[in-house]
Amino acid sequence: MKKGDILRDIVVETMAAEGKCLSRVDGRVLFLHGGAPGDVVDAEIVKIKSSFLEGKVTAIKQLSPQRTTPFCRHFGTCGGCSWQHINYETQLYYKQKQVTDNLERIGGLSFPEIQSIYPSAKTKYYRNRLDFTFSAERWLTREELHLDKKLIEPALGYHIPRKYDKVFDVVECHLQADPSNPIRLAVKDEAIKHNIPFFDLRKQIGFLRTLTVRSTNTGEVMIILQVTYEKIEWIEAILKRLANDFPSITSFNYIINGKRNDTFHDLDIICWKGNPYITETMPRPDGKGDLQFRVGPKSFYQTNSDQAYHLYKIAWEMAALNGDEVVYDLYTGTGTIANFVARDCKKVVGLEYVAAAIEDAKINSEINSINNTTFFAGDIKDLLDQSFLTTNGTPDLIITDPPRAGMHEDVCKMLLAAESKKIVYVSCNPATQARDLKILSEKYDITAIQPVDMFPHTMHVENVVALRLR
Ligand SMILES: C[S@@+](CC[C@H](N)C(=O)[O-])C[C@H]1O[C@@H](n2cnc3c(N)ncnc32)[C@H](O)[C@@H]1O
Repeated sequence: MKKGDILRDIVVETMAAEGKCLSRVDGRVLFLHGGAPGDVVDAEIVKIKSSFLEGKVTAIKQLSPQRTTPFCRHFGTCGGCSWQHINYETQLYYKQKQVTDNLERIGGLSFPEIQSIYPSAKTKYYRNRLDFTFSAERWLTREELHLDKKLIEPALGYHIPRKYDKVFDVVECHLQADPSNPIRLAVKDEAIKHNIPFFDLRKQIGFLRTLTVRSTNTGEVMIILQVTYEKIEWIEAILKRLANDFPSITSFNYIINGKRNDTFHDLDIICWKGNPYITETMPRPDGKGDLQFRVGPKSFYQTNSDQAYHLYKIAWEMAALNGDEVVYDLYTGTGTIANFVARDCKKVVGLEYVAAAIEDAKINSEINSINNTTFFAGDIKDLLDQSFLTTNGTPDLIITDPPRAGMHEDVCKMLLAAESKKIVYVSCNPATQARDLKILSEKYDITAIQPVDMFPHTMHVENVVALRLR
């Protein structure tokens, strides 16, 4: 067997990590790019390692019954919804399996039966935030590359997977409800009309860098336009067009970013018109009215707003609060979980590293008339020590919702030292969650596990785990 060989009539067995398919050839594991579980395929070998092979599907001989027709014209180019060709039931099955596999293999843990994954009612238009990149030269298909005339056209869209400098032009995206699509198309149209240069990611020249569209269930929309330097007539040409065409935009912002990368957590945001925030609403867990959450341009908010409610409700149910507890909400973002549970406990202490999000978290308590929360900005591994616990109260319950990287080992150790009676661990990455749970298993038993699907048509899965101190 050598690189370039074609393996014939391979039956695709299952989904593996990182969304790849898995099969076996002569007892060796074969990871496949392309295909779906249940397909029979031919595949070209692209990598040979002692313990596994990697292949690229070159032909599909028999289609799996688990397949369905992708609904998006960009499927195959865009990395965004790479499971669209697999029916939703099967997607849920593999997400559930991902949670089980990680807890067993990485965590090596014993645990009670995992609850069936909580599906997303919306499988399209479920996101409240999309980030688009401008590019002076859009990505071209193989056919377009071989045309006689060299095409040089700008793009406003998404990066091609694993290629930082290649952006394809999005004509239609099914992830965020309108006016997301018309806004993106209007921005591109206005930019071309005024000859405003799109950024060249390789040469690092040009003006327009990124466009972020954030929306809420209340119908408010926030725009964040990132450009390389201050040229107000170009910025205003675009923002005035949006203000004219889209009355639902309530927050117009721009950022001057002359750095080599597009991150803006360290940059000033200029609010050109409207409010410097949007307001999302969410039902209270007890069903008595709604909570309001103010979200600024730099603040994290769960991207699937409807599912965020179910995720928090599951965490709240696992917490089973009786009104007397001191609760810590680690990685609190804009204080959403903290405010969600605040009515049912004595006090909540929220920790988060984005200072602007902590300011939003405080406002979110205020606008919801919640006065038993306190919030602190900083890296949790530096903030959370014995003196912090002494000053702010020993936690009875810790809710933790870290980013994909999971918790720093020092934070896990601090949780062990704090010895709260319960921990509820909300995670968007079951692999790092399993690693952290292994550390926590020194003192804690897992009492409940509930996966939640926040991102249909992707391999991502959220998982909530309840832990009890032994
Ligand atoms: C998955 S989000 C959860 C936010 C919030 N719980 C929610 O549901 O909206 C993770 C949050 O952790 C914050 N974060 C990441 N690393 C951190 C660190 N080392 N210390 C404190 N906060 C951190 C991020 O800024 C982000 O707001």
